Amino acid sequence: MMNKITVVGAGNVGATAAQRLAEKELARTVVLVDVIDGVPQGKALDQWQSAPIEGFDTRVVGANDYQPAAGSELVVVTAGIARKPGMSRDDLVRTNAEIVRHVSLQIKQHCPKAIVLVVSNPLDVMCWVAKQVTGFPRERVIGMAGVLDTARFRAFLAEALDASVEDIQAMVLGGHGDTMVPLISYTTVAGIPVTHFLSKPTLDKIVERTRNGGAEIVAFLKTGSAYYAPSAAVVQMVEAIVHDKKRMLPCAAWLQGEYGLSGMYCGVPCKLGRNGLEKILEVKLSPDEQAALKKSAEAVKETMAAVSLRLPSSSPDSAGR
Ligand code: NAI
Ligand code: 2OP
Repeated sequence: MMNKITVVGAGNVGATAAQRLAEKELARTVVLVDVIDGVPQGKALDQWQSAPIEGFDTRVVGANDYQPAAGSELVVVTAGIARKPGMSRDDLVRTNAEIVRHVSLQIKQHCPKAIVLVVSNPLDVMCWVAKQVTGFPRERVIGMAGVLDTARFRAFLAEALDASVEDIQAMVLGGHGDTMVPLISYTTVAGIPVTHFLSKPTLDKIVERTRNGGAEIVAFLKTGSAYYAPSAAVVQMVEAIVHDKKRMLPCAAWLQGEYGLSGMYCGVPCKLGRNGLEKILEVKLSPDEQAALKKSAEAVKETMAAVSLRLPSSSPDSAGR
């Protein structure tokens, strides 16, 4: 287990992730930080009081400052505003960029050795903000989206096949948005290509539903967005890092030529271990999948252009890109 994991943002995703982290005892202490007075303290205390019932010894503490978070080995960033009905992920960009910039400065100061796992939307762009502002290497700034998008894809496939989710293997790559790229060519049911079981029109429908997976939940909830599956996805990534599992998961990573892309975050297959992002795996894509990934990466770049990043003066890259 780690000594300390901090979750910034004690809202739906952050608080649920903190609870799951504590229940799995992934750190001795889980610190919940939020700007709202009393909320992280109250939620943390409530979670800690569930420890004797659930049987975990991880202490959960809440704060409005970063003092209790000092020295965290891993920080999950969920601070921001969530998407409301009718709002695209990209509508969030300017507000959340400023929030993530502020949070990243605090992480740089108080947790200089941390692995940062970004969740705030628009995900790929917020990862870039966090990387630029902290100045941390790409191994230590990773985004969560692909695990969630893949879980949605797997759940919908299991439903269509009347099969166990455990037997569905898949990967959704690309940016966390409408252009995400489910890899049909690598999707299997107990090792058998999914195309053996489902027709193209059925698969197309499932891909479309996956792309709209977040919006479908926003339309139901009306006042917020998904958080049970997102927090579970965060914890799967944290678990891979804490236990040095070398898991291969789709994560948002800073690309330096992989898949012919560079200078942006985008979802690609990654190996996660105790050092964070340990390797980006380059697999052969079909021409359609490669074209879709390129299109998705272009959409990320367009959103990046909406942010004018003010970097700390010590940053090696004052241009921000
Ligand atoms: P929420 O509104 O429930 O919680 C956000 C929390 O951030 C609030 O408690 C707010 O007070 C806090 N906050 C705002 N500014 C802050 C700051 N400067 N420092 C610390 N805390 C601050 O939202 P929810 O549902 O928890 O979602 C959080 C973010 O995660 C949103 O941007 C959402 O779009 C994104 N998200 C991303 C997913 C992904 O797959 N990457 C999946 C689900 C949500
Ligand atoms: C989701 O996909 C809102 O990005 C979030 O549910």
